[in-house]
Amino acid sequence: MSKIDIQNIKLRFGIIGNYEGLNRAIDVALQVSPTDLSVLITGESGVGKETFPKIIHSFSRRKHNQYIAVNCGAIPEGTIDSELFGHEKGAFTGAISDRNGYFAEADGGTIFLDEVGELPLATQARLLRVLESGEYIKVGSSKVQKTDVRIVAATNVNLTDAIAKGKFREDLYYRLNTVPIFVPPLRERGGDILLLFRKFASDFAEKYHMPSIQLTADARHVLVSYPWPGNVRQLKNITEQISIIEPNREISLDILNNYLPKVPNSSGMPMIYGDKMDSQQFHNEREILYQVLFDMRRDVTELKKLVNHLMKEKEDDTSLHKPNNAVGYYHEPERSIVPSPVNQLPTINLTPKKTVNEYIQDTDEYVEEESLSLDEVEKEMIKKALERHHGRRKLAAKDLNISERTLYRKIKEYDLE
Ligand SMILES: Nc1ncnc2c1ncn2[C@@H]1O[C@H](COP(=O)(O)OP(=O)(O)O)[C@@H](O)[C@H]1O
Ligand SMILES: [Mg+2]
Repeated sequence: MSKIDIQNIKLRFGIIGNYEGLNRAIDVALQVSPTDLSVLITGESGVGKETFPKIIHSFSRRKHNQYIAVNCGAIPEGTIDSELFGHEKGAFTGAISDRNGYFAEADGGTIFLDEVGELPLATQARLLRVLESGEYIKVGSSKVQKTDVRIVAATNVNLTDAIAKGKFREDLYYRLNTVPIFVPPLRERGGDILLLFRKFASDFAEKYHMPSIQLTADARHVLVSYPWPGNVRQLKNITEQISIIEPNREISLDILNNYLPKVPNSSGMPMIYGDKMDSQQFHNEREILYQVLFDMRRDVTELKKLVNHLMKEKEDDTSLHKPNNAVGYYHEPERSIVPSPVNQLPTINLTPKKTVNEYIQDTDEYVEEESLSLDEVEKEMIKKALERHHGRRKLAAKDLNISERTLYRKIKEYDLE
């Protein structure tokens, strides 16, 4: 594959970077796309695995048929077989009609099984059968169905370990791994880190209507040497946080260090990328924390909407139910790794192990409680501070330990004029 082809692919799919390992991965994806071989994409979380199955699909003879992405880790164990393979009316309580699964829907197309290591063993057996013979059986049925689907899978866990622990079938692993594609971690990509930073900074500048942030020379140096445990996703999130929070658009090393969580080194001791923890850092951490909390709340609200929507759909379900949520079905929250100076912030785990109803109830309570307490407390704090300083924002902001800009935004948000 020539250099030009790879550059075109990058443009088309918004892939930034020139690191050889990345180019190699794209090259393999292109080579393998016209075939029907199964592909297994491996790489740490956040390295950019999700573009590869899209590339493979769009350069295959299947491109005019469905591409369905399934996050195996986000579908409850009790429903995953039915999601993938469909079910017959009466197969289980609530199965009020026949339903086609993704394997029927994607006939002639491609299915991307993300986080394939999360598949329950029973589902792994069904999947193996499809891979070997193109055959499957709907849940609750005895009739064998045929499908012609190309499988691309991805994982950030070591499947060899999972096999050793009896959690993943070895035969399935070999079937899936016909062609391996490895997406390298960000810390290996050197100069690409700066390219990505610049791209994200300019994207967020446009999104938030602000000048783009820029790094001083020593900050650039640290950006490249930082180990990036959350890879490109983490770099993107941090660039967004800085873009939103920092009034000064030139980002010094000190400021940047406030945003880079300390990563434990091999001895288990946190590596310190900043030199000192000063009041400015506390100030920023507080702001980031606010941001993260608000983002989490938004994620939860979106999740609630999605679950409600799915429930509604199940209820409305008449005869032939299509898995119309297919491609956009799951939406991995961009912040599934929450980079934060407070090292162990909770990550959002989208794997509901309860029934859907319990889950909705919980999210309902959670969303309401959270919004009430957070908003009320914050509003009250701001009101008090403004009163104390007779409406003088500069002093109130200082007192609250947030920037004037944030205070201004909050005043508007809470209608405190
Ligand atoms: N090379 C890249 N250029 C531009 N954006 C990238 C690149 N790699 C990853 N990203 C972005 O980083 C985020 C994480 O990528 P994703 O494919 O979800 O990672 P993974 O599936 O490996 O965890 C996404 O927002 C993606 O658009
Ligand atoms: Mg992913």
